[in-house]
Amino acid sequence: METLANGQAAAPRAAIALASHTTAEIAALAERFLTPNYRNAPIVFVDGEGPWGVTLEGHRLLDFSAGVAVNGLGHNHPDLVAALQEQTRQLIHQSNYWHNAHAAPLAEALCGEFTRATGLPARAFFCNSGAEGTEATVKMARRYHAKVLGKPRPGVITVHGSFHGRTYAAMTATAQPKYQEGFEPLVPGFRYGQFGDLASIAALIDDTVGAVLIEVVQGEGGVSVPPPGFFKDLRKLCDEHGLLLCLDEVQTGLGRTGTFFAFEQEGIAPDIVWLAKALGGGIPVGAVLAREPVANALVAGSHATTFGANALAMRAGRTVLAIFARDKLVAHTAEVGAYLLAQLHAAFDGQPYTLDVRGRGLMCGVAIKGDPKLVVEAARDRGLLLSVAGTNVLRLTPPLIVTREHCDLAVAQLRAAADAVLLAS
Ligand SMILES: Cc1ncc(COP(=O)(O)O)c(C=O)c1O
Repeated sequence: METLANGQAAAPRAAIALASHTTAEIAALAERFLTPNYRNAPIVFVDGEGPWGVTLEGHRLLDFSAGVAVNGLGHNHPDLVAALQEQTRQLIHQSNYWHNAHAAPLAEALCGEFTRATGLPARAFFCNSGAEGTEATVKMARRYHAKVLGKPRPGVITVHGSFHGRTYAAMTATAQPKYQEGFEPLVPGFRYGQFGDLASIAALIDDTVGAVLIEVVQGEGGVSVPPPGFFKDLRKLCDEHGLLLCLDEVQTGLGRTGTFFAFEQEGIAPDIVWLAKALGGGIPVGAVLAREPVANALVAGSHATTFGANALAMRAGRTVLAIFARDKLVAHTAEVGAYLLAQLHAAFDGQPYTLDVRGRGLMCGVAIKGDPKLVVEAARDRGLLLSVAGTNVLRLTPPLIVTREHCDLAVAQLRAAADAVLLAS
């Protein structure tokens, strides 16, 4: 192969100067020019360090939302920053017509985790978000039945309270009317059972159904932990009826619940599992991992995405996994997560507004009587960021690098915020 002459090496340059704005100006621009689908609070984050987010005015907030479970390594992790700086100098993107240096090795690493957890060989498809992972999973499951097994079984069972993303199949899989209203017609073939209720799922099965799509711990739905034995029974049900068990680990995956995959705590092996959020450390990356021969349903040309598996995203994923392994972050998450849950129980059990305290690893929720949005706002005023899940759950998904001291600080501020809002009303 002939190598063509390189251009001149570019001299280092200063960044192109861009207009800078105040927080009020940014909020006004957003109000005028962004579609109004987000309700952004008037805070502009410009920097961060570990579990701390830093605003334009220089305020430091303890970030127990972590970009909704994305920033597993916190903000500006020095090893991730160094890797991304190097990668942006080398190569950001090339197409899937060729290989880059990082996609296949990242697939090897993730499939290695799948095999460690299940004993089964696997293959990976890379995309850019959780919803794209859901889409790829539905397409893979349908194509597997139609083309590999030779009998179309397009029906997909999901469960109420689920969240799988906002694209059409993902939104249809998301069995919550508030995400679907006004967007009909939905994608055909979806039917909905109840999380944790095997009989409700069994009742939906006929020979047109080919897959069950489900989160191991429901995140957006309210940090709902499955009842003991539910997933073992579900695996058995799927096996009896020839259904693919497809686990959405977009939020729970990559150690968040104290094991690399949340399904490891259920003692089962899925046919397909998909990840996103924490995989790129903030760079958009999604991955669908499927056992063979299910993965082979995506034959050449059957599915694709332009940005999927690009060099920057794959370098991010490899670096995140390397940091996880070096710093034993999954074990750390199990240990600190148990501490956080215990502290939440100590602070909230028995309060007149507390309905439940629950969680796995560093994915915790406090269900309350009252408006959780008001508590989240009050916590923010006290320097703590967290999010709302479901209708009544205060959700904590801190970076996996947090310490017990960070947890103490967060629980104290959250309790003070909840008392101020919920005891006053
Ligand atoms: C379990 C789960 N699946 C899918 C998604 C959708 O991911 P994305 O917003 O990256 O499309 C989310 C997002 O919160 C999620 O929590």
